[in-house]
Amino acid sequence: MSVKTILSELEGCTDSALLNDWHVVAYSTDLEQGKLLPVTLMERDLVLWRSASGEVHAWDDLCIHRGARLSKGCIERDTVVCPYHGWRYNDQGSCVLIPAAPNEPPMKKARAITHPVKERYGFIWVSTGTPEKDIPVFPEWDDASYQKVHCGPYTFRSGYRAVENFMDPSHFPFVHAGVNGIYDNPDPIAPYDVELTEEGLVTSEVRVTQPYGDPRQIPVIAYYAYTCFRPLVAYFKKRLVIQNPEDQHLGNEDDRFCTFLTTQMVDQQTSIVRICCAMNFNPQPTVEDVRRRQDIVYAQDAGIVDTQRPERIPVDLRLELHHRSDLLGQKYRKWLQTMGITYGVF
Ligand code: FES
Ligand SMILES: [Fe+2]
Repeated sequence: MSVKTILSELEGCTDSALLNDWHVVAYSTDLEQGKLLPVTLMERDLVLWRSASGEVHAWDDLCIHRGARLSKGCIERDTVVCPYHGWRYNDQGSCVLIPAAPNEPPMKKARAITHPVKERYGFIWVSTGTPEKDIPVFPEWDDASYQKVHCGPYTFRSGYRAVENFMDPSHFPFVHAGVNGIYDNPDPIAPYDVELTEEGLVTSEVRVTQPYGDPRQIPVIAYYAYTCFRPLVAYFKKRLVIQNPEDQHLGNEDDRFCTFLTTQMVDQQTSIVRICCAMNFNPQPTVEDVRRRQDIVYAQDAGIVDTQRPERIPVDLRLELHHRSDLLGQKYRKWLQTMGITYGVF
């Protein structure tokens, strides 16, 4: 039995829909050259590193020789040096030196276990399978009229419950009272549409009132349009209309605030949410203002989402109660079930 077989038997997730997808495991800024960064994706321990070319590599955090953790080693002369017997692996994952036999070429089988990895939108994306689709498109990323701010990381227990919460406007007045909604005057949620498209689940706009809906700290009427690209990647584009008629000259009909949300399932009950916000209004908020507001909102979310039971989200719709205002959540759960996802669900 090969090490690779043993690893796949030990790995927590066997769902092809998740294995063959891209998952964010770090911000690009987490990975400077010369650093070995251990990360865990669905119980599989990986090591990330950046070679001299600037390219990122994602390998199993395990040396094929005797199973030591490569992340405990170091990078020297653009090779990863195993901390145990000093085997050196180049940026292709090939062992190029066995110090116990420096004049013999290493065996062909002496290779790191490498995985597809890409750097996009300031995130590092890894797949431990064979990706069937490219990374979802973040529509504002290449649009220079949008200021982009990365926020997080935010820790949640269930990754799916974090995603579902991100796409649920009816909790705003309660979880985010005074920020994203008004406790004493919660917005009714008008019927909206959810369509399953090539891109994922896409909604029509949902209207809500927000006393502090964006980092400008002015009350707005917000129209949310959600897309759930993948089981663990979601997005909204929020159209902003300044609420007080006498302040409306401060805004513009093109004003938008968007969030691209990614979730790394570390295991079935531990997840890391990393987001990138994109906004195009003036005056531009400072990075600190954007982060301060997001930190408040995601801490409020985690305070409730992490109390939900069962921790693993039920995909059988009979197991919780669904209202028509939860249409996106219902469709999301059904979609997970249709994809055959069993990891982290109930
Ligand atoms: S375990 Fe890595 S060199 Fe021996
Ligand atoms: Fe929330």
